Amino acid sequence: MNLYEYCPKKITTADDAVSKIKRGSRIFVGTGCGEPQHLIRFMVKDMSLQDIMVYQMLSFTLADFVDDPSFLRRFSLKLFFISKEMRKAAFEGKIDYIPAYLSQIPKMFYSHRIGIDVALIQVSPPDKFGYCSLGVSIDITRAGMSNAKMVIAQVNANMPRTWGDSFVHVDEIDWLVLQDEPLVESLPILTRYNEIARRIGHYVSQIVDDGATLQIGFGTLPNVILQFLDGKKDLGIHTQLITDSFIPLLEKKVITNKKKNHIPGRVVASLCMGSEALYRYVDNNPMFYFRSSEYVNDPTIIAKNDNLVSISSALEVDLTGQVCSDSVGYLFYSGIGDQVDFLRGSAMSNGGFSIVALPSTAQNGKVSRIVPHLSEGAGVATTRGDVNFVVTEYGIAELQGKSIYQRVMELAQISHPKFRDELVQFAKKRHYIFGDQLTPSQDDLMFLENYKTTYQLKNGKTIEFRPLLPSDEFNYRNFFYSLQDQTIYFRFFYRMKTFSHEVVQKHWASVDYRKNMSIIGLVQRGGYKEIIAIGSYAESESDLAEIAFVVREDQQNLGISSYLINQLETIAMENHYTGFTATVLKENFAMLHVFKKKYPDLKITTSSGSEVVLIMMFKAKEADIPDNA
Ligand SMILES: CC(C)(COP(=O)(O)OP(=O)(O)OC[C@H]1O[C@@H](n2cnc3c(N)ncnc32)[C@H](O)[C@@H]1OP(=O)(O)O)[C@@H](O)C(=O)NCCC(=O)NCCS
Repeated sequence: MNLYEYCPKKITTADDAVSKIKRGSRIFVGTGCGEPQHLIRFMVKDMSLQDIMVYQMLSFTLADFVDDPSFLRRFSLKLFFISKEMRKAAFEGKIDYIPAYLSQIPKMFYSHRIGIDVALIQVSPPDKFGYCSLGVSIDITRAGMSNAKMVIAQVNANMPRTWGDSFVHVDEIDWLVLQDEPLVESLPILTRYNEIARRIGHYVSQIVDDGATLQIGFGTLPNVILQFLDGKKDLGIHTQLITDSFIPLLEKKVITNKKKNHIPGRVVASLCMGSEALYRYVDNNPMFYFRSSEYVNDPTIIAKNDNLVSISSALEVDLTGQVCSDSVGYLFYSGIGDQVDFLRGSAMSNGGFSIVALPSTAQNGKVSRIVPHLSEGAGVATTRGDVNFVVTEYGIAELQGKSIYQRVMELAQISHPKFRDELVQFAKKRHYIFGDQLTPSQDDLMFLENYKTTYQLKNGKTIEFRPLLPSDEFNYRNFFYSLQDQTIYFRFFYRMKTFSHEVVQKHWASVDYRKNMSIIGLVQRGGYKEIIAIGSYAESESDLAEIAFVVREDQQNLGISSYLINQLETIAMENHYTGFTATVLKENFAMLHVFKKKYPDLKITTSSGSEVVLIMMFKAKEADIPDNA
């Protein structure tokens, strides 16, 4: 469409357009990288504009002016989210922050709770029917402009035309300012979290299944994690914000959107912030379906996606699971944004869940981000009732359905080793946990990842094996109570009746993952994994370790302990043991059979009463045998 023919009277210059804004107006400005920079600059320049209230989601261009006292006398900025560029101004009280769920902001405009006099937006040139595109910012921009008394649009040929609900007819716009300029680019510093992100990415990839639909929250870390999901298959996307981090996974066809049951085949989003390359990627690309925030972020819409996994970040998490993501103490740092919308939506999604990922420390390792209590002034957007998984570079804490006691143990375990004892001591003082609770190992337990395996049983079912962790206490207890008396008797040689906190502590106290080890076997039951087997070795005399197993009755004779003995032997050898010893009841034919099968040369050293003591020496691995042997 030729605008000069269709609506010549609407076409004007920026200074003329902003001169139509009245003193005291409430102005909505388009979001983030979609903001009309040219119009903003002219608005600030026009000295007749006084006492102006600006509402915006993510603000870049105005950050150039916030240190000027005369600007601050004329403009009052109300931001729904504090961008990196505005952070200093927020700390200094130069801008104001409106805490709100993104899904709810459009309603505030439609209901006129927040009245808008003028909307400054940016659009692509119109097509032959007169439709421009809101391009990279549909989010709250559509609602902002729809409820403004006057709409001024910068028509910029660099604004991509995006698919979905992005189209605005020129009839809906009052003034058109034709001005091309590059869009704002916003690139996260992807190298910032290198090693930490790799480790967090490793853990996150363990809980995200192929075919999941992902939401990636604001911030560098969630975006960096994406690259570590490149081993997955057929991921889908339903998210607020698209960044450059999505492109490699789209190009490698890791993201196919094939398994999405809601709007299959398409990436659903409402905002795009990144490089020029990203803007060209979404331009006229039907794979992207952009809708406004009241749709994309509506938890009931999010929940229409089965297996929706929300991955977001946080500034602090306290030991009870309260998440602070918008302030550092009293300092407002970012915003509520999309976190709560997606946590709730993922909780309602069939098979869905949420992950809050954060580095375990801040300020070069000086402070822990897993904290006994949130910093003074810190706000809670995501309550302890909303949180599912918390992941740091030290592991995964699963909080849903867990008591305060369990949460403390889960979270202390994934805090930085140097803060673990402090956290546990605080929790004891506050009676969150038992007074005799042991502090989780203060080692970096990343090496335990090598001991995580899966094994297919003779009956075709798959069992997961991993080292026992302190947070397994309840699961461990339930396992023992699920066993029959005979099984307990075979394992402990007497009819042990209670597996109390003290008993479990005693077992766990001995596990150092080197000289003393316990591997558990887990099966999935609904959304929960239950222990069905434990194999342990513990330091015995000289360089021998004493080994013992217990397998739940319904899983016996399927090869579990035969598998576990191999695993335990490998770990024991790494820890310089040369063999196993075991005390077995003479009538325990199954156990004796397993040992004899693995160690045909085993020696019976003592045979008294009903028990035998076995010595089973490891065979040196071929690589360990010297050539001249
Ligand atoms: C002993 C125990 C750990 C074995 O675990 P499991 O996972 O069932 O063991 P596996 O399936 O790997 O192997 C069991 C083997 O014993 C054999 N077996 C079972 N009952 C047997 C019997 N009465 N006589 C001879 N062999 C028997 C099975 O056929 C199988 O051999 P295969 O692999 O050659 O077919 C398990 O039965 C258990 O938990 N028992 C109670 C606790 C206990 O006894 N602990 C040992 C303390 S040291």
